[in-house]
Amino acid sequence: MKIALLGKGKTGGKVIELINDNNLPHTYTVFDRSNPMTVEQLRLHDVILSFLPGDVFVDNIEIIKSSGIPVVTGSTGFKWTDELIQGLTAPWVYATNFSLGMNLVHEMINTLSKARNLFNDYSFSIHEVHHTKKLDAPSGTALTWKDWVNDDVEITSERTGDVIGDHILTFTTANEKITLRHEALDRKIFAEGALWACEKVRDLNIGLHNFQSLSLKELLK
Ligand SMILES: NC(=O)c1ccc[n+]([C@@H]2O[C@H](COP(=O)([O-])OP(=O)(O)OC[C@H]3O[C@@H](n4cnc5c(N)ncnc54)[C@H](OP(=O)(O)O)[C@@H]3O)[C@@H](O)[C@H]2O)c1
Repeated sequence: MKIALLGKGKTGGKVIELINDNNLPHTYTVFDRSNPMTVEQLRLHDVILSFLPGDVFVDNIEIIKSSGIPVVTGSTGFKWTDELIQGLTAPWVYATNFSLGMNLVHEMINTLSKARNLFNDYSFSIHEVHHTKKLDAPSGTALTWKDWVNDDVEITSERTGDVIGDHILTFTTANEKITLRHEALDRKIFAEGALWACEKVRDLNIGLHNFQSLSLKELLK
């Protein structure tokens, strides 16, 4: 696969590491500030993989769309609107978190989200911790978890050290507490999931697809 890799920072860099360390059968071109993307350049690839900051991805979205190449994007910090995806001519996959293990969490949260069937008085909270350079807060993952819980959820954010991603969901009643925690130990988990999506994206219909739904389908096969 020829990959147009948008951004080779902390996460994009892991994609490169994974390809090189494991001799994966992919080649890549990096587009960043020193090599700005053009429609013509993007078209030389099979798939576009973005780990640009969200605002930069949105600023460049018309160029990316015009290329007509399938897209896998992990850029966060913006909301997907109808306007953003208007006129897509290729399949796109997005994720706020490319961890394949997050699917297991999804299933667990699905169970917790049924709390209202058993309890009248309870609360949910999410605490997320990330490195100090993360630009958005709360994290895209915390917001996705809140959607999965589908209830009132108080979210708190902490920025410290080089924490890759630590999410803790707590369900509390007067007399019991359930805690669910997902810790990312290496950014390679995002690179792995993103490359998995790059393999799948070309077989999808034109339009925007959610990574979680795609990989959940695989989990529940
Ligand atoms: N979905 C997921 O699983 C997942 C996982 C981790 C991170 N993320 C998200 O991925 C994004 C990137 O995170 P990161 O931690 O890898 O960021 P990062 O280390 O800051 O890397 C950002 C990359 O984007 C490039 N860039 C920044 N501004 C640019 C511009 N104006 N034009 C062209 N290139 C530009 C940088 O290139 P220069 O060196 O040229 O500035 C760098 O290569 C964030 O939105 C983050 O939340 C998603």
